[in-house]
Amino acid sequence: MFRPDDDQATLRRPTRWQSYVVPQGWETFTPEDHEVWDLLFARQVELLGSRVVAPFLDGIDLLRLSHPGIPELAELNAILEPRTGWRTVAVPGLVPDEIFFAMLADRIFPVGNFIRRREQLDYLEAPDCFHDLFGHIPMLAHHDFAEMVEHVGRLGQAAIAAGEGGRAARLYWHSVEFGLAMEKSELKILGAGLASSFGESHFSLESDTVERVPFTIRGAVHTAYRHDAFQPRYLVSRSLESTVSAILELTPERLLEL
Ligand SMILES: [Fe+2]
Repeated sequence: MFRPDDDQATLRRPTRWQSYVVPQGWETFTPEDHEVWDLLFARQVELLGSRVVAPFLDGIDLLRLSHPGIPELAELNAILEPRTGWRTVAVPGLVPDEIFFAMLADRIFPVGNFIRRREQLDYLEAPDCFHDLFGHIPMLAHHDFAEMVEHVGRLGQAAIAAGEGGRAARLYWHSVEFGLAMEKSELKILGAGLASSFGESHFSLESDTVERVPFTIRGAVHTAYRHDAFQPRYLVSRSLESTVSAILELTPERLLEL
């Protein structure tokens, strides 16, 4: 039904991320859903071994993610929020970029309220709670990385306001989502999209058909990425700390000039 008054009100009111939040509905997950989580978790931990930066593995332990079954967000938040001020909320699927960056700027991480089916272990149309929780949340227990992701949220809001949201999206993609990083002279996984992917985690480190180039802010901002396939080029941070510092020093004005 067309309700002009409501539409007017919607136009006047800035969109708030809170309107995208839904209950996690943890009690509605079936035993099969929890089994799928356990299967994915065990498989991915074994596959990663020590191929991921150490703070990721620390985060898994700190947040007790190895506890069987899909994590209940309230329980997870009870550990995460006092530690770094980050909190998870449930969403029904991908949120628009402006909402996503607004959430990050408030130290809120959106988590899909669904999990893939057993027949789709390696194929995902939209990020589910395994990608969001296993891939992203461990690093949000790391104080400096947590601060960096909040800053990316602010940069994203500023870039979108200037009509240049793609710059922030690419920066996010090549660090938080698909970044690699050197750690004690070894190449490691940093990004959540790699840490949570069965196929791409090894591919990103071992394939000799992809490019791996040093991470720079300018490089990240101007390197295109793929949504629908493995990345053809990975950006490799000299260290986790160097990328965190570089991003924290980046101002919105500089992001738009690069
Ligand atoms: Fe992600």
